[in-house]
Amino acid sequence: MADALLIDCDPGIDDMIALLVACAGPELDLVGVSTVGGNAGLARTTRNARAVLALAGRADIPVAAGAARPLVRSSTGFGAHVHGEDGLGGIDLPTPPGGPDPRHGAAFLADSIRAASRPVTLVAIGPLTNIALLYATFPDAAARLARLVVMGGSVGTGNITRAAEFNIWWDPEAAHRVLTDPGVEVPTTQVTLDLTLRCTLPDAAVARLRAGGPVGARCADALDFYGRAYREQGSGDVTPVHDAIAVLAALRPELIRSRPARVLVDTTTGAERGATTVEAGRAGPVAVADDGDVPALLDEVVRRLSRLDR
Ligand code: RIB
Ligand code: CA
Repeated sequence: MADALLIDCDPGIDDMIALLVACAGPELDLVGVSTVGGNAGLARTTRNARAVLALAGRADIPVAAGAARPLVRSSTGFGAHVHGEDGLGGIDLPTPPGGPDPRHGAAFLADSIRAASRPVTLVAIGPLTNIALLYATFPDAAARLARLVVMGGSVGTGNITRAAEFNIWWDPEAAHRVLTDPGVEVPTTQVTLDLTLRCTLPDAAVARLRAGGPVGARCADALDFYGRAYREQGSGDVTPVHDAIAVLAALRPELIRSRPARVLVDTTTGAERGATTVEAGRAGPVAVADDGDVPALLDEVVRRLSRLDR
């Protein structure tokens, strides 16, 4: 039996791609999903996570809603400018029957880790609020994690501001807790914008997905919206599948290149708020993954999405 995988997310179009890539397995077995506000409000990201899992035929995977707001300071707004008001580019996936797990996302993660009879990897692809709450409230459970993979931060420039990447910017205090001062020993990989911005699906790949079946067609529709949003904000003809790369860092770590670093997060209220930096010349507890085999990673994304339409 494969090791267990938990995902904390804020779907979000690239979160949708990431969840579907995770469902295509087989290296890790997705056993639970928690949600956080970010790309859209919490009710939306939770609904979207359940709808995306149902699209993959995995409505059996429990989803628990976590934090709606950052720990300390509320950022202004969500990611609607990139992901649409509904968070999924208006593709309007059907809502599966039933509802989310009644537990708070952080408690759900803790219970899922404690209940696991095999190693658990947690992949965080939204703001880190739930992970910080897990570390602060349930350190015994957090300490049992085999690995944490985070999509967030950058070594170079940001995307939501010149300095900061969106997931970190939305809750910098949470990111400080998780990346700089965790209080628990969890092998952590930080997949940064420096790699993920290079991971954009070519039009031909999106066309192949569209022709492949219902799952690929919904992904193509969402990616069309995503690409238009990036073009309209002057970012060029790109559809960076940030979150899917973080999931692949857990499924296929050999495709990612990282180096040990001590990561610092700017938690001031100035222009650099949410920026992540690595202390020069110092190894540290976090493996910063700012490079990888981009063609192979993109092939893996398309191959796994296509597998869901077979
Ligand atoms: O900066 C990219 C990250 O912010 C991704 O997780 C995307 O979904 C948004 O949440
Ligand atoms: Ca996300």
